[in-house]
Order: sequence, then C-alpha cells, then structure tokens
Amino acid sequence: MGFLRLGLGSSPLRTEHERLVRTALKRGDEAPEIPEGVRLEGSYSARAIEIAREAWRARALHEHQSACVFSRLLPQLIEAEASVEYKTVVLRAAMDEIRHASLCLDLVRYLGGVPELEADLVTQPLPEHAGASARERVLRNVIFASCLSETISTSLLAEEREMTTEPRIRRVVEQLSADEILHAKLGWALLGEWLPSLTDDERAGLCRYLPLALGAIEEKMLGAMPLPPPIPEALREELAALGAVDGRDGREILYAVIEDVIVPRFEELGLPGKKSWAEKRAA
Ligand SMILES: [Fe+2]
Ligand SMILES: [Fe+2]
Repeated sequence: MGFLRLGLGSSPLRTEHERLVRTALKRGDEAPEIPEGVRLEGSYSARAIEIAREAWRARALHEHQSACVFSRLLPQLIEAEASVEYKTVVLRAAMDEIRHASLCLDLVRYLGGVPELEADLVTQPLPEHAGASARERVLRNVIFASCLSETISTSLLAEEREMTTEPRIRRVVEQLSADEILHAKLGWALLGEWLPSLTDDERAGLCRYLPLALGAIEEKMLGAMPLPPPIPEALREELAALGAVDGRDGREILYAVIEDVIVPRFEELGLPGKKSWAEKRAA
C-alpha cells in the first residue's frame, strides 16, 4: 500500500511540467486546473458532496493506472515498427492520464477533502500474448486499452458532460472527454491501418482474442461501476451535477456503446464483432 498524491513538488522540473500542461496537453481556452481557495458555485447537501468526493477519489487511481498502460505500449509499438505518430501520441496519452488523476484529486480538494488516496500502487505489466507476433501482440493490447476501454470512457464522459452543471467540475469533465476521444482514436487508427496487411495467422489470432477482450472489458467495467443502494432522485441529481453519474446509468451506457458503437466498428473493419460479443467470455 502507498499514497497517491499528485501535488507539484519543488524540483527544477516543475516549470517544465507547467509548460507541458499549458501547451502540449492543452484543450480549449481555459485550463481546467482548480486554484486553491476557489469555492463551489452551487449549493449541495453534505451527503452529495461526500459521495461525489469519494467518486472522484476512486477515479484518480483508475486514471493513474491508465498512464502505465499507455507508457507500456510504447516498447510494443517500437517492436512492431509502428510509425512515429503512434509513439508520440501514446506518450501524450500517458501524460494525459497522469494529469487526469491530478485533476480528479484537485476535485477531491475542491469538494473539501484531502487530495490523496491510500491504495496498492503496484502496477501490472501488459499481457505478452505468448506466440503472437509483435504486431498481433500490440494490436491485442491496443484493442483492449484503446478501442474498448477508451471508447467506453468516451461515451460515459459524453453523458457526464451533459449532466455536470457545476462549472469547475464541468471544465474538468470536458478536458477528460476531449483527451479520451484521442485515446480511443489511437487504437482504431492502428487497427484500421494494419488489418489489411496482417498475415492469416495474425488475423486469426485477433479473432480468437476478441471474445476474451469483450468478456474481460465487461467484467472490468461492471466492477468499476458498482450498483449503489437506490438513492432519492434529488440526491441523484445533485450527484450528476457534481460529475458523479449513478452506476446504473453507467451500466446502461456500457452496453449501448459496446452494441451500437464497438461491435459495428469491428464489423466495418471485417472483424467478427457480433459473433465475438455473443461468445464473449472472461479469461
Ligand atoms: Fe483518462
Ligand atoms: Fe484515456
């Protein structure tokens, strides 16, 4: 166990970090970082604030773990001879995720909490997919991390963006949303570019992987969106305003995005999306 804290240190790299946030990682006109001392504009019950604070705290860990996934994709992209834009964008995605985690903890502070969380900070290596070629290996991992995970996040965030009315929180949700769109694009672009030149073995390997990946993402997302006990409608609305969408709504979006976006996209690319979703199974 350890503490995840994302406050800036006082090292000579601090200015460079701030420059990156202002330039390379920028979206829109106003940076979403929340300065100390800024107060919530709306008024909310103590219960809503507490639940929203814990939701953002839990999200920080998830965002931070995604940074490891993207940075670990770099060596696999190098081994598979991906063109340079995939390598730079994957590192941008890793930086985005660290920033997302910082923004989540900013929101914890904004909601009156201590911006840190105690968690198991051990990270997991990416699957090696024994026997797969370098291209198939990275495509499998990109399918999971980008085409599935990030496409689902994009839809969840689009819903949150609609419902979050507290302005500072909304700005954070907008940054997350814009970044996740790029993170999903990375996977679909690589898959679309490489599919036509895959060998029969590589393509067959990907087709075998799809039901496993779909089963695993379903399990992972359901785990990340537990069903809370039913709550009064007024509290539910307050939570939505604070960017904490109910797990029930999240689960509905999960199935809609898999069935209406992801499966058809695989089919368009000539991959067996429908059959794989019907056969999905957790590894
Ligand atoms: Fe993220
Ligand atoms: Fe992301």
